[in-house]
Amino acid sequence: MQLERRQFPDSFVFGAGVSAYQVEGNRLHLRNNDWDDYYAAHRNHQPYTNKEIGPDWWTYPKAEHDIDIAKDLGLGSLRIGIEWARIEPRKGEINKVAIKRYREIIDYIHSSGLTPLITLNHFTLPYWLGKEGGYTSSNFASSFKRYSEFIADNFGDVKNWLTLNEPTMTLTNQYLSDAWPPRKARVRSAPTVLENMRRANHLAYDCLKTKIPDSEVGSAHTMIWVEPYSRRSLFQKSWASIINYFLNKMPIDKVTEGGNMADFIGFNYYTGCFIKPVPRLTGLVMREEEYGVPKTYPPCFEIVLPGKYRMDTGWPIVPEFFIHSLEYLHKKFPAKPIVITENGIADEKDKYRSFYILTHLAALQQAILKGVDVKGYYYWSSVDNLEFMAGYKYKFGLISIDHETGERKVRPSAQLYKEIATSRQIDVEGLIKKYLPLDQQMPAREVIFNLK
Ligand code: BGC
Repeated sequence: MQLERRQFPDSFVFGAGVSAYQVEGNRLHLRNNDWDDYYAAHRNHQPYTNKEIGPDWWTYPKAEHDIDIAKDLGLGSLRIGIEWARIEPRKGEINKVAIKRYREIIDYIHSSGLTPLITLNHFTLPYWLGKEGGYTSSNFASSFKRYSEFIADNFGDVKNWLTLNEPTMTLTNQYLSDAWPPRKARVRSAPTVLENMRRANHLAYDCLKTKIPDSEVGSAHTMIWVEPYSRRSLFQKSWASIINYFLNKMPIDKVTEGGNMADFIGFNYYTGCFIKPVPRLTGLVMREEEYGVPKTYPPCFEIVLPGKYRMDTGWPIVPEFFIHSLEYLHKKFPAKPIVITENGIADEKDKYRSFYILTHLAALQQAILKGVDVKGYYYWSSVDNLEFMAGYKYKFGLISIDHETGERKVRPSAQLYKEIATSRQIDVEGLIKKYLPLDQQMPAREVIFNLK
């Protein structure tokens, strides 16, 4: 890629996102959600908090304050979530107070001149549904349909929707491994879960399209893109394709029914890795020390982390793989535009966030130049939020939040994002000189120049 100024298409949307559970707070008090017991059980251990201040969006006017900042940053859209457990805390019972608070937040987004993009389900479920078997329940899809109908009836002024967030993560962390509560792997249920998600997406898609005819409805999918360590090895290439198929490709295809049950493909991209064969049977299950979460890796393979820099979670920063995964999505669903529904970095000290945003947006532009239809980008997350399993430990936000006092500060890297969003272009050299520390300037130029 040339190190020149490059424009984004006129209709391109710049935004930032959060999910309901990760910013609303008040969980220990409510206890109506399938994750609440987990947080309650860990509340005295950092990084979990027993004070529950954090972003605290449920308390007026905390969300409004952060929406003001998003507006000041020149963003055109905000991705937020609606928490099913708040809307329907007991089966069939609708909570009017919850509707009222969501109404306030959505009205505020609209009156600030921003467009809301709303997620209906971001991993968490009402407690009663968890007890019925959660995603394995034969009632899951019909319950989701009922909830979607209710939401469409009450929030028909919202035109942009995501039904489910990252089916792959639910599958791998809750069913194929015991990483997420209730911490019991239920491998045999995985096909049922995937099928239930397909049905739920289908029913919610139909419902939103019927009740809000001018709406755009999709679902958000993650890809941890895997590439062979040696591009010349046919063996490694074949393995990378197999892993990408099961981990990244198949769930999107299945849930969206080949793209037919989606107006756009929501894509969450954070990182990628190389795989390299090792002559032993290691790597089948590795323990991640920090919060005891087992991670399953393919047998006989070693994960090699590409790129020069790592985020606080240890994930490598690999904008190059962003292009490859975007090209795959475009090839697979040529008629569907793509929206980047999440892309971001855990970086408490804001050391690499400018590098990350700049190089990933440059990669995205390169993909557009190669013919990939991308119509929007949501940085994740607008504010520091509660990470699933890690509590308030990792800081993804453009806006930092002291989780004990609730104090907000706009991180310096947010200014870089603002400059791109408001000028609608990337002035590569100008931004590098203005926002990147000296030691990251050459690496940024090299990464951007070599984007293919
Ligand atoms: C999830 C977010 C989460 C982010 C960073 C994504 O997979 O959708 O909820 O905060 O990863 O861990």
